[in-house]
Amino acid sequence: MKELEIFPYGTEINDGHLVIGGCDTVALANEYGTPLYIFDEATLRSKCREYTKVFKTYYSDTTIIYASKAFINKGLAEIIKQEGLGLDVVSGGAISIANAVSFPLEKVYFHGNNKSRSELELALSLGVGRVVVDNFFEMSLLDKLAQEAGKIQDVLLRISPGIDPHTHAKTTTGIVDSKFGFPIVTGQAAEAVSKAISAKGLHLIGLHCHLGSPIYEMDPYIQGTEVMLKFAAEMRDRHGFVVSEFSPGGGFAIQYTEDKPAPSTNEYAEAISKTIHSACRAYGLPLPKLIIEPGRSIVGQAGVALYTVGAIKDIPGVRKYVSVDGGMADNIRPAIYGSRYEAVVANKAGKANDQLVTICGKYCESGDILIRDVHLPVIESGDTIAVPASGAYCLSMASNYNTSLKPAIVVVNGGSSRVIRRRESYEDLMRRDV
Ligand code: LLP
Repeated sequence: MKELEIFPYGTEINDGHLVIGGCDTVALANEYGTPLYIFDEATLRSKCREYTKVFKTYYSDTTIIYASKAFINKGLAEIIKQEGLGLDVVSGGAISIANAVSFPLEKVYFHGNNKSRSELELALSLGVGRVVVDNFFEMSLLDKLAQEAGKIQDVLLRISPGIDPHTHAKTTTGIVDSKFGFPIVTGQAAEAVSKAISAKGLHLIGLHCHLGSPIYEMDPYIQGTEVMLKFAAEMRDRHGFVVSEFSPGGGFAIQYTEDKPAPSTNEYAEAISKTIHSACRAYGLPLPKLIIEPGRSIVGQAGVALYTVGAIKDIPGVRKYVSVDGGMADNIRPAIYGSRYEAVVANKAGKANDQLVTICGKYCESGDILIRDVHLPVIESGDTIAVPASGAYCLSMASNYNTSLKPAIVVVNGGSSRVIRRRESYEDLMRRDV
């Protein structure tokens, strides 16, 4: 089956059942209940290793930092730590998770366009490695807080290079009209460099940009890197500032559907590092340390959502709705970005896909459609539906809409499974109510 390639590495069919990480997914659904999110540990670890190896092949001074907004909890942070990656965090919550698993905090990069005073204080007190300063308000607040704490915080500046990465408007970040970063064309980026250099509580280490996500083309990375390094050369000429770290962000695509393959890690690594080499040569810049921030491409393929089919509504000549026990509360992406997914009936894997159905969620909105118009084997209530490429931006954007319970999460590896987050309970839902 071709769609198995979208699933974690080593996914196979055994006796008509979908098997991931050596575990029968139908048995997992029975044991832990559904909706259930499973992460294949081997895929996760091999993605971490692949990013490190491939980028270092082209550019030896590379650090890979996992963009934890794609999904993080303590169990996952532990694996990322063991794999030696750094971490991109965007909240005090993510910093706390890193701290809870004794993640080396000097390898943590703190992003965000409106970091609060208490989040910045937390970062300063725990010794977060870099704060990626996004705007002038943050710069003066952080400078003040650092001086009060008697510290000098290493920072990068988030620059808006004005490059369109041709992805969804809602996930486009590096154009001039964006809430993120200091734009180059308006002169604000240059002003930010000058201010950061003279701020007593800050030590300016380098420059960062992030164009958007997911990006299926190389050109935006090439153009973005060129624009950023040209700007770096201008800042060297004007202020004597030498960029010792450069980050073109993350945004590397993964394959969600059979008809839209993603570029390889190799293609991204080659495009970015060749551009850095040639731009640094052209502008006479020393080669900076390269910081790469993949999120989706580390966890996306490793994660699979399992649902159980309940009601089936056939409207003759119109559409067959197959309702599952999850939906937009655990995966909002189809509803807000129109994202497409594939599905496999885990207990009928390998059977002919000769029925056209629409998989919908259980939530009280007509927009709660997980997959519109997908060909699957004849479905009955009680079947298990597996949705691949669900590791990124599903759980991390999950809600309790309709007072629903967030799913359990298990890690599978070599035929065994372990829970890394238990299913929410009604008590959990009411815990903070007073
Ligand atoms: N670095 C920065 C500064 C970012 O803002 C992001 C993602 C990343 C790295 C990682 O991008 P990735 O490698 O995961 O594509 N909710 C959307 C995606 C939002 C991405 C936000 N920033 C979605 O579900 O597609």
